[in-house]
Amino acid sequence: MAMTKDDCSKVCRSDADAIIHVDCISHTYPDGTQGIHNMCFSVYQEEIVALCGPNGAGKSTLIEHLNGLMMPKVGRIRVFGKDVDKQNLSAIRRLVGVVFQDADSQLFSPTVLDDVMFGPLNLGLSTEEARERAMWALDVVGMEEITRIPHNLSGGQKRLVAIAGVLAMKPRILAVDEPTGDLDPSNSRKIELLLRSLKEELGMSVVIALHDMAVAARLADRICVVKKGGIIAEGAPQDVLYNEALLSTAGLDVPPVARIFKDLDLEAPPDERPLSLDQLMRFLRK
Ligand SMILES: Nc1ncnc2c1ncn2[C@@H]1O[C@H](COP(=O)(O)OP(=O)(O)O)[C@@H](O)[C@H]1O
Ligand SMILES: [Mg+2]
Repeated sequence: MAMTKDDCSKVCRSDADAIIHVDCISHTYPDGTQGIHNMCFSVYQEEIVALCGPNGAGKSTLIEHLNGLMMPKVGRIRVFGKDVDKQNLSAIRRLVGVVFQDADSQLFSPTVLDDVMFGPLNLGLSTEEARERAMWALDVVGMEEITRIPHNLSGGQKRLVAIAGVLAMKPRILAVDEPTGDLDPSNSRKIELLLRSLKEELGMSVVIALHDMAVAARLADRICVVKKGGIIAEGAPQDVLYNEALLSTAGLDVPPVARIFKDLDLEAPPDERPLSLDQLMRFLRK
């Protein structure tokens, strides 16, 4: 049976520590398709939270609500205590930066530098300040080829420039939609390291949508499992990613590390379960 708004509010209590609080939102697209339904979701300070779910689960729809690109038909979203509504939109966009799944859709200027300066200029900074911000953001992502035409870059480079373009606005929260899906392992690794450094070195919070559970295992502090427009479970990666029944219900695979651990009949308390191959090797050597 579908949850009513009252049922939802019981689950989706106001959450004083959350810097983003998504309170029981629903979104129906113009053609009648329900993108998300009665969804509750929170983001906390300095964490990487992964939204894991198969294609069509509602990850992108949720992400586009986090900075007001989409508005919920029902329910509300608060960011640092501010309602995401038309009145607060520019303040919200300074706080939450969204990087789309398709990096091409985010890049349109003649050079990499112009592209990354676009956001800060739009915030009203002077050319000099915008250039400084852009150079800083390009340095953070490790992109040196600032005079290249964005259109001609490789997939991994485009992704880095798209992230730099959002970072240049110095958001407190970065939401990235499937950033590693189309990348080779080395570029994927680069993005993983970058996202981790945003949390560890800049104190940002990161929301990442993905269905590659190996990446989720290496990166996330917390996992939310998304299915059919709702979050059906959430918890520490050591719990969620070792729960084969749960992941299979959601149409997701157990990450390889957890599969090997299980196949070898290994056991450990949840907080000692390995989440990367390195951790697994260390566990096996003990
Ligand atoms: N522009 C749109 N118009 C109609 N339905 C859409 C649109 N975008 C997404 N949907 C639908 O909303 C649901 C959630 O999609 P989405 O948020 O893109 O999922 P995910 O990002 O997890 O793959 C799916 O059923 C999808 O078909
Ligand atoms: Mg998507």
